[in-house]
Amino acid sequence: MKVVIIIPTYNEKGNIERLIEILENKIFPTIRNHDMNILVVDDNSPDGTDNEVRKLMRKWKNINIIQGEKHGLGEAYVRGMTFASQNLGAEIMFEMDADLSHDPNKIPEFLKNIEDGYDMAIGTRYSGGGSIPSNWGLSRKIFSIFGNLLVRAILMRFKIHDWTGRFRAMRKEVYLKEKNELTAFRGYTFQVSFLHKIVREGFKIAEVPIHFTDRTLGRSKIAPKEYIIDLLKYIIIARTIELIHSPFLKYAITGFTGYVINAVALEIFKSKLGFHSGLAASSGAEMSIIWNFLVNNFWSFSSQRIKSRVKFFYKFLQFNLISFGSLVIIGVVVSIGTHLFGDIGIIRQIFLVVAIGLVIPYSYTMYNIFIWKRWRISLLTKLQAALG
Ligand code: GDD
Ligand code: MN
Repeated sequence: MKVVIIIPTYNEKGNIERLIEILENKIFPTIRNHDMNILVVDDNSPDGTDNEVRKLMRKWKNINIIQGEKHGLGEAYVRGMTFASQNLGAEIMFEMDADLSHDPNKIPEFLKNIEDGYDMAIGTRYSGGGSIPSNWGLSRKIFSIFGNLLVRAILMRFKIHDWTGRFRAMRKEVYLKEKNELTAFRGYTFQVSFLHKIVREGFKIAEVPIHFTDRTLGRSKIAPKEYIIDLLKYIIIARTIELIHSPFLKYAITGFTGYVINAVALEIFKSKLGFHSGLAASSGAEMSIIWNFLVNNFWSFSSQRIKSRVKFFYKFLQFNLISFGSLVIIGVVVSIGTHLFGDIGIIRQIFLVVAIGLVIPYSYTMYNIFIWKRWRISLLTKLQAALG
C-alpha cells in the first residue's frame, strides 16, 4: 500500500535531516510490502528547514514538501493529510514528530497492526510498557500523565491510554470519514478532538507502546498554559454535548418528575383517601415507578423502545426489581446516617440526598445494561453465551 509519513516542521533544521536519513537508509529498506513516502509540512520555518529537505529531495524521490503560513500544529496536520490523500494517493498516513522523539524503528509495528485489520494504530506512552522521558521535569510529567487521565475520565473513554501523543498511523478511510468534521480545535488539542471522533465512529484502534525520548536539538513549541485551557474547553464541551444527546438528561428529568409524583401521591393517598402512611408512601412509590418506566421507554430510551406486549410486561417486572434495589440503597444509607449522626429531620434529608446521589448512577447503569440494553458488558455477554 502507499504509505505517507507526514512530518510537520517548524524550525527543525538538523533534526529533519537526521530523521529522513534514518528513514531512507535504515527503515524503508526493511519494509518490502509497502510503498514508503515522506511528506514534510513546513510552516515557512525561518531557519531554512525547507532547504535542508529540498537538498534531500534530490537524493530520494519519495520525499515531498508543502509550505504554508504558521497556524499551529493541528492546522498543519489537516493540510498535510489533505495533500497526502488528494495529491499523493496515500492509503496509509502516519503522523510523526520531526525531532526524533518518535523512534522510527517502531514504524513496522504500526504497519503490522494496520495489516492485521486495524483502522488506526496509535503510539502509547502510558500502557503496555510505553514511557515518557525520565529527564522531563516534574511539572511536565504531571501535566502529561494527569492530562491524559483527565481526558479519559471526562470523556469516559478508558480503552485508549494516550490521547495527546502524536505518533499515529491510520488508513485513509479514517481521514476521509472525519475530514469534514475537523473542529475549530486546531492547536495541540486537535490530537484529542480528532481521536475522539474516530473512537465514537467505532473504528478499530490498536495501541503501540512507545518510548518517547526528549529532543536533543532545538526547542519544543508546546505552550502548556494555552494547551491545558484549550484541552479542558474541548473535553468539557464535547462531553456536555454528548450527555445532552444521550438519554441521560431525559432520564434525569423523568426521575425528577417521578419524585414529584411520588411526593404528591403520598399526600393525596394519606389525607384525601385516608390510607395508612406506609401504604400511602409505597403506593406513591409504585405510581412513580410506573411513570418512570413509561416515560423512559417512550422518551428517554426511545431508540431502544420495548414494543412487544409480553416483553413489555416482563421488562416492567424487571424494572420493579431494579427500583426495589433503589429503595434498599435509600433505606440503608438513611439508616446508617441517622444511626451515626442522630435521627433528626436535617440529617434524614442530607442522607436522602446522599442516597439519591448513589441511586442515580445505579439505576441509570441498570437500565442501560438490563432494561434497554444500550451497554454491553463483555463479561455478561460471555456469560450469556456460555449459558446458551
Ligand atoms: N508545521 C508546523 N507548524 N509544525 C509544528 C508547529 C507548527 O505550528 N508546531 C510544532 N510543530 C512540529 C515540530 O516541528 C515537531 O516536529 C512536532 O510538530 C512536535 O512539536 P514539538 O514542539 O517538538 O512538541 P513537543 O515535543 O513539545 O510535544 C510532544 O508531546 C505532546 C504532548 O504529549 C509532541 O509529540 C506533541 O505532538 C504532543 O501533543
Ligand atoms: Mn518534541
